[in-house]
Order: sequence, then C-alpha cells, then structure tokens
Amino acid sequence: MVLLTGSNKIKTAVFISGKGSNLKSLIKFSKKNNSPISIDLIICDNLNAKGLNFGNTFKIKKKVFNFKNKAKAENKILFELKSKNINLICLAGFMKILSKNFIKKFKGKILNIHPSLLPKYKGLNTHQRVLENNEKYSGCTVHYVSYKLDSGEIILQKKVKIKRKETPKSLAKKILVQEHKLYPKAILKVFRL
Ligand code: GRF
Repeated sequence: MVLLTGSNKIKTAVFISGKGSNLKSLIKFSKKNNSPISIDLIICDNLNAKGLNFGNTFKIKKKVFNFKNKAKAENKILFELKSKNINLICLAGFMKILSKNFIKKFKGKILNIHPSLLPKYKGLNTHQRVLENNEKYSGCTVHYVSYKLDSGEIILQKKVKIKRKETPKSLAKKILVQEHKLYPKAILKVFRL
C-alpha cells in the first residue's frame, strides 16, 4: 500500500452509486487531523445518485460516467484519477464491477466496504440471504479489491448480532451504522496509524 510521507495527505477518490452515507462519513473523517487521506474526487455511475449532493455540500469535484461502454468509462476515469494525482480509491456502495485492467492499474490501492462478514455472502442481496440462513451474526468488511468479486484481502471486520425479528431493512440499517465507523478505522490500519 502507498506509504504516507511527510504531512501530505493521500489524495483519494470515492466511488459511489447511491445514497453515499459512507462517502459522507469518509469526508468527515478526512477532515480530522489524524486522517491520512483527503477526498479530492467523487466518481459515480448514476446521475440520480443522492450521494452526489455531498460533492456540493463539501465542495468536492464530482464526475458521473455512463458505464454502458465500460472500457470507455474506465479509461475516462483513469484519466481523471491521473490528472488529480489520486493515489487511493475507496469504493463505497459502487455498484459496477471494475475490470481486471482497471484494478491492475491501481493494484493494492483500491478498498471496498461490503455489508457482510466476508468471505460469507459475497455479492448482492446480502441481508436477505443472511436472514434466510438463520445466521446469528452478520456484519461488515473492509477489504482490498482484487480481480475476484468481494474476495480481496480483508482489512477489518465488525460483527453485529441479529435479533429475532430482524428484517433485511433493519439489518441493513444496523450494519450501515457500523460501516461508517469501520471504513475510517480500516484506512488508519492500512496506513499503520
Ligand atoms: C453499503 O451497505 C455498502 O456496504 C454497500 O452498499 C451500501 C452503500 O450505502 N456496498 P451508502 O451509499 O454508502 O449509503
């Protein structure tokens, strides 16, 4: 992973597709003195994503790309990242799967947050599958992004207990609260802080 040198913060891009509550928590974290990162760019694949509003609120440049042609979108994103000297990517509810070619260019510098205790429940509809299997616990995981979906090296996890009357919605809400704490902690760990 990139090493933190001097007092310069690592220029970071956050990729989102929806609400962006993790983006918000990362922006707040980035403004703290002990944060090794600054958020300099928001990348999104969805023009209607609510999370884009945080770009306005916090005056962070945001760019939306149409992934109909993925290769083209990724090339444009790579250009944007390079021109802003981005050295870390945080995926935060980004619903597109990045290509091997893209990941290779940022190898070891892309993090993701997933709402399950990986390696269990990779992919979509996590909470529903967890409840269908009568799990006692679920949680969230921050991990490095590798070529295989939700399979890169785990950085940190947080476990939550499942209540008897839990629904996918209530579980998602409970886990999201933990996600907002876990992502910053995982970033501190990555930079050995
Ligand atoms: C989070 O639960 C994240 O783990 C998952 O998608 C959700 C995004 O939420 N990948 P938000 O957009 O950060 O509010």
